[in-house]
Formats: sequence, structure tokens, C-alpha cells
Amino acid sequence: MKLPGNARFSTVCIHAGQEPDPSTGSIITPIYQTSTYVQEALGRHKGYEYARTQNPTRAALEGNIAAIEHGRAAFAFASGMAAEGAVMTLLQSGDHVVVTDNTYGGTYRLFERVLRKYQLHFTYVDTSDLPQIQQAIQPATKMLFLETPTNPTLRLTDLTAACELAHARGVFVVVDNTFASPYVQRPIDLGADLVVHSTTKFLNGHSDSVGGVVVAVKDEHIEWLRFIQNAEGAILGPMDAWLVLRGTKTLPIRMERHNANAQVLAEFLAAHRKVARVHYPGLPSHPQHTLARRQMRGFGGLISFELGSLEHARTLLNHVRLMALAESLGGVETLISHPATMTHASVPPDRRQQIGITDDMVRISVGIEDVEDLREDLAQALDRI
Ligand SMILES: Cc1ncc(COP(=O)(O)O)c(C=O)c1O
Repeated sequence: MKLPGNARFSTVCIHAGQEPDPSTGSIITPIYQTSTYVQEALGRHKGYEYARTQNPTRAALEGNIAAIEHGRAAFAFASGMAAEGAVMTLLQSGDHVVVTDNTYGGTYRLFERVLRKYQLHFTYVDTSDLPQIQQAIQPATKMLFLETPTNPTLRLTDLTAACELAHARGVFVVVDNTFASPYVQRPIDLGADLVVHSTTKFLNGHSDSVGGVVVAVKDEHIEWLRFIQNAEGAILGPMDAWLVLRGTKTLPIRMERHNANAQVLAEFLAAHRKVARVHYPGLPSHPQHTLARRQMRGFGGLISFELGSLEHARTLLNHVRLMALAESLGGVETLISHPATMTHASVPPDRRQQIGITDDMVRISVGIEDVEDLREDLAQALDRI
């Protein structure tokens, strides 16, 4: 099996980073569930010494995701947050970071509750408005940390323009691409220096693993991330690496269905009289629909909408039957949630209001079920309001 240099996206997803297992020919990379490797003689080994440092299952996944994201190397971690934590060790005390204001709640918590203790400084701005990025950059700014689309308000940042602006001021750019997945957008192609993912979401896609990955292109980042992955040791275990590797093989066909189902449900919700507002980049009413068409392939599997009151949101959430009331996203099954009290509970209420996470907002991670079943489920729950 030789992957041609010009292989297309689905082919890369299935084959990149993987060779038949050298000892048996197994087409699937085995789960190397081992903590150490026997050395033939003192100083003579097969490139594997200790499993925190090297593991063939993890290496296969890292090669696969690096190729999918058009990076040069990838490093897999125990969770999306561990991946973000590793990226932040590229900074030094006194450094300043400009961050998308409605970034994932756990990212905000990491920055504010943990990293501030180490004299890192953060300014949160609406990065969909480029002048706000420009104004927030200071002499101490080293990193621009972007999330697009944002969770759960689905605002977009123009990645090409934001990267150009940051690079012109000597600032490197990290993009959390969890929400979109590399099928929908590849930030490195648009100028980003680093991409982080919670592989827990679309990359794995089956709601049965927690993990994270960082993809890098620059030598200095690659060198440091390889060092820190071993030095701090927050690695992804072989079983989880294997699960994610199985997930990435079907990423393109899953994403096609996520995109298609979400578009149908967004249009259904937008036309429903009990729904006050729908946020979905695939709707022409989305303020950045034109940017979405340019920057994204399809519009992703996440929708959020407002129902007028917390009571209405509660009624809907308590009456859906097929959709599961649960945190997380990106799995094959549809999940529905209440950001204000679930995923974003760690964000203070006044900040939530400021960034548009209202108490009446509901978020759906649209799965790949038959869309008619999903529409009927939503319709019967909306009837209860
Ligand atoms: C956009 C985004 N980034 C990062 C994370 C953190 O990932 P994990 O839960 O795997 O630590 C999440 C989790 O929900 C997320 O939605």
C-alpha cells in the first residue's frame, strides 16, 4: 500500500500514517498495549524504549492526523484540554495572548484559573471583527488563539485575514478546529501555525474516547511539542489512539451526513414559529454566510437556537425522545444540550450574557441518523412548548 503524493482527502483519511504491521502484516495498526520494549543489547533497540515517549499505535494516529490537517507533525494527548495545555507551554511568563471571546468554556477556565497563575495574560475579543484583534495586540503578545465557528454561538473568524494580521505583528496563530473538523476547514492551509483538536469529538466520532491532538508545521514548535509530550507525559493511551484512528477513516462520509442533516434541521427550526433565532452558518440569514461559503466545506454539524425563555428551553430539552440530553458533540448520535448550565457553566453569568450565550439557548450536535426522525423528534418536543 503506497499512498500517492497527490492522494485526495478521503484516501488520506484512510491510509495516511499507517503501514501494515511489520511483524504480521495486520492491515490495521494493532493496539500496542505495552509500557516498555525489550532491547536486543545495551544501546541497541528498534527505536522504542519506553511507552510514554514512543508508542506505534499513537505514532500511526499522529501521522494520520498530521496528514489530514496538512501539518508536518502531530502529537496526541490524553484530552483536548491536555493538548491545549501543551500548546500553552510554548509561551513564557509575561507573554500575552489574544483569544476569541466565546471560546470553549474549558479553554477559558484553563487560561483564567490556571495559566494566569504563571503570569500569562489574556485578552478576549470578538475575533470575527478584525479591528478588535488589531487593537488587542500589544508588544507582549505572542499568540492569537482562535476558535471558528465558536461554541455555541457559531460566529466565524476569517482565518486568512486573521493569520495575515497576526503574522505581520510577529504573533503566531493557534486554531481550535474541534467544532469544524478538518473535513470542513483546514486552518494550516489558511495560514495557521498550530491546530488543536479535542479528538473526543468529530475525529473519533463515536462518543467512546476522550483525547486531544496538536498539529504543527514549524520546526521550533515540533521540537518543543515532542519534548513536552514526553516531559509532562499527558499522552493518549494506545486503546484511545486506535479508536480515533478507526474514527478518522470514516470522517469524510460522516461529515457529509452531519453537514446535510444539520442544514435540514437548521432550516426547519428557522421556519418554526416557536423558535426566536437560529445560529447556523449554512443559513443565508447568518451574518457571515458569505465567509462560511468561502472558508468552510459544508457548514458543520452544530446548530444553536433561542426559544424565548429558559422555561421553553427546559420544556424542549425534557421532551426530546431520540436526541440525548448530554454534553459533548461530534458523535454519530444526536446530542442536545443547554450551554448556559452545561458546557459553559464555568463561564461567569455576566460574561455569558456578553458573548451571547443566553439562558434560552439550546445547542444540537446533529448526528448521522435519518434526518426525518430527528425532525419529527424536534417537532413533537416543540409542540410541548
Ligand atoms: C471546542 C473545544 N475545544 C476543546 C475541548 C476540550 O476537549 P476535551 O473534552 O477532549 O478535553 C472541547 C470539549 O468540549 C471543545 O468543545
